[in-house]
Amino acid sequence: MQTQTPVKPIRTLDDVPGWFRRTDQLVTDRLLRHQTTLGQTGDLLELGAYLGKSAILLGRHRQPGERLVVCDLFGEQAPAEPNRRTAQLYASLTHQAFEANFAMFHAEPATVIVGPTTVVPDRVPGDSFRFVHIDACHLYDQVAEDIEIARTLLTPEGIVVFDDIRAAHTPGVPAAVWPRVATGELRPIALTPNKLYATWGQAERHVNELRDFAAETSGKFDMQEVAGQRFIRIADWRIAPPSPVPPLAAAPRRNRLVPHARRVAVNLLPPVVTRVIKRARAAR
Ligand SMILES: C[S@@+](CC[C@H](N)C(=O)[O-])C[C@H]1O[C@@H](n2cnc3c(N)ncnc32)[C@H](O)[C@@H]1O
Repeated sequence: MQTQTPVKPIRTLDDVPGWFRRTDQLVTDRLLRHQTTLGQTGDLLELGAYLGKSAILLGRHRQPGERLVVCDLFGEQAPAEPNRRTAQLYASLTHQAFEANFAMFHAEPATVIVGPTTVVPDRVPGDSFRFVHIDACHLYDQVAEDIEIARTLLTPEGIVVFDDIRAAHTPGVPAAVWPRVATGELRPIALTPNKLYATWGQAERHVNELRDFAAETSGKFDMQEVAGQRFIRIADWRIAPPSPVPPLAAAPRRNRLVPHARRVAVNLLPPVVTRVIKRARAAR
């Protein structure tokens, strides 16, 4: 008789399989918010989406008129031989599985491109993305191609993120990325245990934003410099909200309001009701 592995129900982002760790969830979240505060607009792109762990968080930051585009082989064969071998790890992946996970968190779907990352520039307009997460094939040639793709698709102040920049089993990533930092072409913003955040635009204001964030939350960090460019190195941050993205279905109704909105709602009630609520809260 065949046994079936029980599938864990997805209640929070932590339950979605993938490699998007808490520290990078926090840093990504903060940088995307900061771009919006600065009035920077544009679409969001992920190269290598797997089952949606990082795409789900990116999807949360879409502002009106912005879209999230993801590209993945989703089980299709990679065009080149070394990539074909590494992509074998994901042979059973389907875009339906990605879409089902994404739909648990967002009513509006992502735009999905099934195929190698090299097809993306033919499907989307150049100079139109404010954020690109490069997390597809981690071999040198493919990362170098993905860097060029990101450069042509990003707006001048857009942010690019490189996954597995420090992993022992992916030397192709640092080999493709750091030389561009050393020449001053690419400006680093932040280095976490897994990712490098950078831009072809101005890095300093994002660096300062993350320093403020670290100070607010007592997250460990230090400042680093490469080729005269200062950036923040962030340690493994476990300071975290329980889940930055509640699923649509599983979120209890009263938790859908963010604390600020709850406060505003209470303050809009007749004073007598507000007093009763406040007294009950104080008693709790
Ligand atoms: C490490 S996983 C992505 C993880 C995901 N971003 C997360 O945080 O959970 C890498 C993904 O890249 C895809 N991939 C590998 N080579 C690719 C290529 N040349 N073009 C597009 N996708 C590729 C794989 O199918 C796999 O889903």
